[in-house]
Amino acid sequence: MYPIDMYKGSAEAGELAENLKELFSPESVAVVGASRHPGKIGYTILRNIIEYGYKGKIYPINPKADEILGLKAYPSVLDVPDKIDMAIIAVPVKIVPKVAEDCGKKGVKVLVVITSGFGEVGNIEAEQELIKIAREYGMRILGPNIFGLAYTPARLNATFGPKDIREGNIAFITQSGALGIALMGWTVMEEIGLSALISIGNMIDIDVIEVSKYLADDPHTRVITIYLEGLKPGTGKKFMEIMKEVTRKKPVIIIKAGRSRRGAAAAASHTGSLAGMDHVYNAAFKQTGILRAKTVEEMFDWARAFANQPVPKGERTIIITNGGGVGVLATDAAEEYGVNLITPSIELKDRFHRIMPWFGSPKNPVDLTGQAGVENYIKALEVAFESPEIDNIVVLYCRTAILDPRELAKGLVDTIKLYKGSGKPVVVGMVGGLDTFEAMKILNKNGVPAYPSPERAVSSLAAMIRYSRYLQKI
Ligand code: ACO
Repeated sequence: MYPIDMYKGSAEAGELAENLKELFSPESVAVVGASRHPGKIGYTILRNIIEYGYKGKIYPINPKADEILGLKAYPSVLDVPDKIDMAIIAVPVKIVPKVAEDCGKKGVKVLVVITSGFGEVGNIEAEQELIKIAREYGMRILGPNIFGLAYTPARLNATFGPKDIREGNIAFITQSGALGIALMGWTVMEEIGLSALISIGNMIDIDVIEVSKYLADDPHTRVITIYLEGLKPGTGKKFMEIMKEVTRKKPVIIIKAGRSRRGAAAAASHTGSLAGMDHVYNAAFKQTGILRAKTVEEMFDWARAFANQPVPKGERTIIITNGGGVGVLATDAAEEYGVNLITPSIELKDRFHRIMPWFGSPKNPVDLTGQAGVENYIKALEVAFESPEIDNIVVLYCRTAILDPRELAKGLVDTIKLYKGSGKPVVVGMVGGLDTFEAMKILNKNGVPAYPSPERAVSSLAAMIRYSRYLQKI
């Protein structure tokens, strides 16, 4: 078990996040343990930093090498002629204190400690020693036991995950390294753009609270997502205070693992965090306006909506569809998730009726029928955007042979762009085969959140509505 006071004072509320600039936008980085051998962690981190296009200065540190990946290598950080803002440490745990000491003497601002073998395996002494050195020299520590961090606006990928990261405005903080690495590739495939990706590991100094606070003021981040197993002892109050501030500025979505008794025990041995007391976390999330997702898929579904669409101004929602069945499924989902579907006025029904085949339905869901073409969808969207009765729009599509979903996607993107100033969020649910998948890619690439089922589209809108309610309440 961790001594409770060990982590206190590393980042008290008043001074939080002021000194994290070097973590996200360092002017120079050293990779200590930059290996000469492809496939090793230190090599991969150095290669990612270079190949992702980091523009600052890069210093490989390795006493056995003169040059690595075309860069001059130095035996120690103390041999580097210029200043070093950040040192990424990828040497075995036994060497870490000496390396940290050298970094302190060099005036390094922040240590990103990749190395495992600390508190997660009961080696508390090594953590205490590291903290002591960092405090002595006024350095901050991310980690240990992490896969690194990435900040796309600075073209910094200091991880040993995949090289490519799609740029965007979703920040992802993760207490699980392996999951974080796995999701890096997945986000690229899913067209999910990231501003930041932070592996938080054992959180012996910089913790999830402080990173969230920093990101709350980061102009490149619109929504913060967190995979959390648990907080460190003694940080509950800080979590409540700071997260309330953060959610006022931008939405925070947390997937809190360790919900079950056995899951909590697994999380405790994974990162040594307080994972139990699920009901306490639930209450804390509610009070602070944090949205709790149950699965990774749900978390990124919601984040995708927040990343590009305006926060709803009201609750009144319309569904536009070409298929009765998906319309009914979306209606069920709306009821389940608390999304208020409007009953259109006679005038509004009349307007919808004019833009659909005579056998369509102008009620809610507005059923354009299987005969609908791109034009019907565009006109229905125009009616919805212009109607004062509507705050939010759900567009659904079922693959029909007469409407190519990719053409529909382009039409939707253009129309939604035209109405950008309306403040009305749009989510899209599409069901079909390969070309439907391609259509969703077009939509997502262009900032229109698209999902492969009506339920996921409605669930994402529901999350936005819950956040909007929270903001109105406070
Ligand atoms: N300063 C700088 N470099 C040094 C020093 C020193 N004082 N001493 C040795 N080195 C060099 C080594 O020579 C080596 O380079 P080389 O390959 O060119 O010879 C390099 O530093 C690395 O040292 P190794 O002893 O080869 O260490 P190795 O790479 O095997 O392991 C590591 C180091 C990766 C940090 C390991 O100890 C470790 O902790 N691995 C786990 C990391 C991890 O999984 N973190 C959590 C991620 S999250 C998740 O779950 C995925």
